[in-house]
Amino acid sequence: MKAAKVKEGIYWVGAVDWNIRNFHGYSTEKGTSYGAYLIVDEKVTLIDTVKAPFAEEMLSRIRDILPPEDIDIIISNHVEMDHSGALPFIRQHCPNAAIYTSSPAGIKGLTAHYGDYGYIPVKSGESISIGKRTLTFVSTPMLHWPDNMVTYCPEEKILFSNDAFGQHYATTAHFDDEDDLSVILSEAKKYYGNIIMCFGRQVQNVWNTLSSLDIDTIAPSHGIIWRSHIKDILDAYTAWSANEPKTGAVIVYDSMWHSTEKIAKTISEAFADKNVPAKLFDLKADHYSNIVPELLDSKYIAVGSPTINNQMLPTAAAFLCYLKGLSPKNREAFAFGSYGWSGQSIELAEKELEACGFHICMDRIRINYIPSEEQLNEIYKNVQNMIEQAK
Ligand code: FEO
Repeated sequence: MKAAKVKEGIYWVGAVDWNIRNFHGYSTEKGTSYGAYLIVDEKVTLIDTVKAPFAEEMLSRIRDILPPEDIDIIISNHVEMDHSGALPFIRQHCPNAAIYTSSPAGIKGLTAHYGDYGYIPVKSGESISIGKRTLTFVSTPMLHWPDNMVTYCPEEKILFSNDAFGQHYATTAHFDDEDDLSVILSEAKKYYGNIIMCFGRQVQNVWNTLSSLDIDTIAPSHGIIWRSHIKDILDAYTAWSANEPKTGAVIVYDSMWHSTEKIAKTISEAFADKNVPAKLFDLKADHYSNIVPELLDSKYIAVGSPTINNQMLPTAAAFLCYLKGLSPKNREAFAFGSYGWSGQSIELAEKELEACGFHICMDRIRINYIPSEEQLNEIYKNVQNMIEQAK
């Protein structure tokens, strides 16, 4: 298979995973890719590898440029196995290659996964020379594992950003100007929401360092390479990591006999009629990882579930469990639902919304069996009053 030229002497030698549809709970309807990069210099350098089943694909792309035995240096920006899984395989071809990774987390993680390969520890701000080029390492802890770092080459103005700025998007294109930008940005947003959002503070912490670099290319380890729309993705990360949406509402629900659904639709109309853009998601139709990115632009979230066996419907419970882990905070929230006799689901949903770090902005809405027109009108008015007060 062919390598793709990124710049003179720098090649993408990764793999495209067209068929993956679930990446540990993240729905990947458009597949993904694993970006590895080969730099041909006095010391031939491989930056990251690919997921283990794609090792042969990476190897064939490396062979398109040079024999893998020529690799002198491997940089491991991140321990997670979608980027390090092919390390043992590639090392069989270049057993004397020096493997650089972050210290202490990268060393600890790689050793736990693969044993001691004599890793060379690097600290944030350290640089190595590979000939005409320099590689500088910037630690990005908890973006999204403790070991994460990025590698910057000042002579080429290229940032090898690993997970940051990535997208789960399988495509034959390699650059942001070779594909539909709206799709790329949408997948970058979904990626940020599901992978990075809970570490927004850490994004802000490294932002000054990253934004001070002179960059004309960002080469992530998932999806396409940014070279023509760098400002778009940097501006997007700046906005998302600020985590201060001014408007917008997300209404998420599941329903048994359409009563909770009727309440959800009434809530969405109340928002829309107050000029708050509202999006409605039925958990039977929408995967939770597709709902999360909508929250990046939404000040409000309402979650509804009827009561079944004294609990929420499992779809609502799973969504809230997932959301709690992402810890989005800084939103106005409330719970709603219909019930037959006990009605615990609504209080349980409210507790989970509180545990997400949201402010509960109005009383929970509990409707016995089927909401009447009068009750729906009352819900409409109450939601609109809440919006007025929240302004
Ligand atoms: Fe794409 Fe954290 O691995």
